Amino acid sequence: MLVDSFGRVATDLRVSLTDKCNLRCTYCMPPEGLDWLPKPDLLTADEICRVVTIGVERLGITEVRYTGGEPLLRRELVEIVTRTTALRPRPQVSITSNGIGLARLAAPLAAAGLDRVNISLDTLDRDAFIRLSHRDRLADVLAGLAAADAAGLRPVKVNTVLMRDINQHEAVPLLRFCLEQGYELRFIEQMPLDAQHGWRRENMVTADEILDMLAPEFTLTPDDPGERGSAPAEIFLVDGGPARVGVIGSVTRPFCGACDRVRLTADGQIRNCLFATEESDLRRSLRAGASDDELAAQWVAAVRGKRAGHGIDDPSFLQPARPMSAIGG
Ligand code: GTP
Ligand code: 5AD
Ligand code: SF4
Repeated sequence: MLVDSFGRVATDLRVSLTDKCNLRCTYCMPPEGLDWLPKPDLLTADEICRVVTIGVERLGITEVRYTGGEPLLRRELVEIVTRTTALRPRPQVSITSNGIGLARLAAPLAAAGLDRVNISLDTLDRDAFIRLSHRDRLADVLAGLAAADAAGLRPVKVNTVLMRDINQHEAVPLLRFCLEQGYELRFIEQMPLDAQHGWRRENMVTADEILDMLAPEFTLTPDDPGERGSAPAEIFLVDGGPARVGVIGSVTRPFCGACDRVRLTADGQIRNCLFATEESDLRRSLRAGASDDELAAQWVAAVRGKRAGHGIDDPSFLQPARPMSAIGG
């Protein structure tokens, strides 16, 4: 088991397959992109599957999420999903994606056993999409969402980061759209994880503000009050349900106390927290010929040192050197 010194057990593995992306969302990376990880540093599909297998077979991992950057850009994605869903005990397998390319890949991914997808969508307006992501790809994202739904990758969850004076006014239209389509929308508080280090607390649209914007239009009642568990999203029934909406208040309503996550970066580093400042170099061990026992022991040790929380409110808070795109949302 992967247990930290506070007694939290990591059962949810989030694996970044690439740091590259075909969008440039302003809360993530600059328009010119970043210095991508050198190819030889990336774990191969075999190395990724070896680590995931150790996690599932020996360390109690029950959920595996593939992220990026943009995971659909990794050519071996379908193969990796196929190998992951073949593991026993079979883990839940999902991806977090920007949706571009899903129109083509949703059916093969579903056939590979993929259970679910979470897709980012911050605006329904083509011009705003271009301003926000520096690419004219809104139509591709909407096609990807529809294809995921058609392929049965449900519930299709939509992630929206609201930003002040940019897309804040779209909270209600985005929720209406998702209700119509049957997608589960979650609004996310912006976190200090952008490569540009431009995050300012006063610019963050808070969970309270989001709920206030929705209140005049929808009746929201907490789903399972007090049962947030380890999930980042607080879920509300919309107008009595069954439709739901979530708010991920990572900053103002942190869920670190119940966190069950551990991360593997595309270059093979174990991160015990999104905001960790230290990593454990599993790639070096893999390539030095470590046994499964040794890799498992290194992983156990890495999780043991997890801090109590992200500490964004501490005066001494330091944003991790690695941006979101290289950590994996
Ligand atoms: P499910 O609810 O299981 O579908 O997944 P999820 O919401 O955890 O995953 P997703 O990849 O869609 O992430 C949604 C938002 O939650 C993103 O902004 C993530 O960065 C954020 N998030 C995911 N894991 C963590 C975490 O460990 N800590 C914090 N603070 N935020 C996280
Ligand atoms: N703060 C909050 N969420 C973010 N995401 C990317 N960068 C940030 C950030 N700085 C979201 C994306 C995606 C998910 C993985 O994380 O929109 O939906
Ligand atoms: Fe790409 Fe995701 Fe970053 Fe947007 S948030 S630029 S979709 S990695």
